[in-house]
Amino acid sequence: ALPIRVAVLGAGTVGAEVAHQLLSRAAELESRVGAPLVLAGVAVRDLTAVRQPSLPKELLTTDAESLVLGAHIVVELIGGTDRARELVLLALESGADVVTGNKALLATHGSELFAAAERVGAQLNYEAAVGGAIPIIRPLRDSLAGDDVRRILGVVNGTTNFVLDRMDEHDDTFDEALAEATRRGYAEADPSGDVSGTDAAQKAAILAGLAFHTRVPLASVPVEGIERVSIEQIRAARETGHVVKLLAICERLTGPDGVEAVSARVHPALLPRRHPLASVRGANNAVFVEAESAGDLMFYGAGAGGPETASAVLGDLVSAARRHVIGGPGLAAPPSSGLPVIDPGLVTSR
Ligand code: HSE
Repeated sequence: ALPIRVAVLGAGTVGAEVAHQLLSRAAELESRVGAPLVLAGVAVRDLTAVRQPSLPKELLTTDAESLVLGAHIVVELIGGTDRARELVLLALESGADVVTGNKALLATHGSELFAAAERVGAQLNYEAAVGGAIPIIRPLRDSLAGDDVRRILGVVNGTTNFVLDRMDEHDDTFDEALAEATRRGYAEADPSGDVSGTDAAQKAAILAGLAFHTRVPLASVPVEGIERVSIEQIRAARETGHVVKLLAICERLTGPDGVEAVSARVHPALLPRRHPLASVRGANNAVFVEAESAGDLMFYGAGAGGPETASAVLGDLVSAARRHVIGGPGLAAPPSSGLPVIDPGLVTSR
């Protein structure tokens, strides 16, 4: 099959990891798709910046437009809203599929971008936008599409969860804990969006929209961050068998007049220690979904970090790429890697 050209926009923590894996795992990814995925280039602002993992210089370019116009699939990981919006629209209008992890972009310009994708019949995949490595977009959009979601409670910001956790368990100060979260690559380039709850609010808007089959504008999500959570409050919570978590709460409510409405909000909350979300530690995230028929479901895992978030991006990329391969593995019939299955007689029981 013909090679599929992939453009990566941005080489931050996640972008550099995605580009690196496209190169280092090329054969494996090709077998999953049924065609080679060729990294056409990586658009960056500064050609000389130090990146982790490092990338071959000849793949870097500052000309994002040309890169986009030569690609079948564009992976947008530059963050922010204005430039990202321009480049994603350019990609979709040129007929390329887009994979993005940019929650700010989707929460702000989602309607316009989804309409553009629909117009040209392109895919716009965004599993990495909420919950890092955790599969939550597809489960809400596809797996639960026939159910009736009543409520979602989410720990959806790794940085603030890490900070609250360190204050609780290691008696770190707020500033020490935040510096460590930044050092580990969990925080955004500007961590004020993490701390103020804006990052979680963007994710709440995306989750509520999917869960309740509607559009939830970011401006309608009330948000309070963790700036005012004190070490004394954390200790007091501990003494009464609670834990302080920054929660994203998405609900379908029936008002006194019988009219149903959707509410999404973000604020610090006291959770009993025995609630499943209370055990979410460090930069992990979890999304607790309460559905009419399915009952309670919890999606748990790494909410931030380069390789973790790259896993979700690459999944979206493989899924988009499979559509380009006529007669390829597609979604219904997973391709075989050819790995043999071990003879059961050789497995010793313990
Ligand atoms: N800054 C985000 C977090 C990264 O801390 O969760 C993942 O969206």
